[in-house]
Amino acid sequence: MTTHPETAIILGSGLGKLVDEITDKQEISYTDIPNFPVSTVEGHSGKLIFGKLGDKDIMAMQGRFHYYEGYDMKQVTFPVRVMHELGIKNLFVSNAAGGTSPDFEIGDLMIITDHINAFPEHPLRGKNLYGDRFPDMSEAYDSKLIAMAKEIAKDKGIKLQEGVYLGTSGPTFETPAEYRMFARWGGDAIGMSTVPEVIVAHHAKMRVFGVSVITDLGVDGKIVEVSHKEVQEAADNAQPYMTEIMRELIARI
Ligand code: HPA
Repeated sequence: MTTHPETAIILGSGLGKLVDEITDKQEISYTDIPNFPVSTVEGHSGKLIFGKLGDKDIMAMQGRFHYYEGYDMKQVTFPVRVMHELGIKNLFVSNAAGGTSPDFEIGDLMIITDHINAFPEHPLRGKNLYGDRFPDMSEAYDSKLIAMAKEIAKDKGIKLQEGVYLGTSGPTFETPAEYRMFARWGGDAIGMSTVPEVIVAHHAKMRVFGVSVITDLGVDGKIVEVSHKEVQEAADNAQPYMTEIMRELIARI
């Protein structure tokens, strides 16, 4: 069976269930793809998965690369370049993030309307392989997909927040002072991924849709000690709703 997906998904930690719904799977281990970084995530090596979600051809990254793992930004975003070469036109991304808005609660879904790049290295630094040297970023997250997602959430009675995702290197979670600073900068959700991938996807003219799951709060008076385990548990509880919105959105495009 051959597939020619135009849609790809990259799912955050604790948010991988959508990948389990892919049928007619063909899997390619990262170790079999020339120049692909090798995943450091929990023992099992990452893979690209090709198959069907509903009646749509789709590809998914099982295991994404984070800057805090030690990869440089070229490595972090290499899979998105591969997606572009394979003809991907739509990219769906998700992540777990700390919320700075006083309106947010743990477990909320936040549609990403825009982002702030607070990583110390830019993924487009260096030789420009395709696209503009100085890319426009006035609408990195597709407004039509955002509008459709809001409609879907309303139909299904799913609570949805929206806001700006700020991506920073990690691996430390934020201090209260850093949360205050990022909130003043305009970040509503703070995390350690997504921004580099979205920059490279937008540079390659893909339509991008992103969702953050708010797994902990960086709001004065509500900041408590947080661990990766708690982040994953909160992500796991919210993931059926995120999965439903993504699945329905992919079916409609
Ligand atoms: N910062 C704060 N909280 C988080 C993060 C982060 O990077 N990721 C998940 N929860």
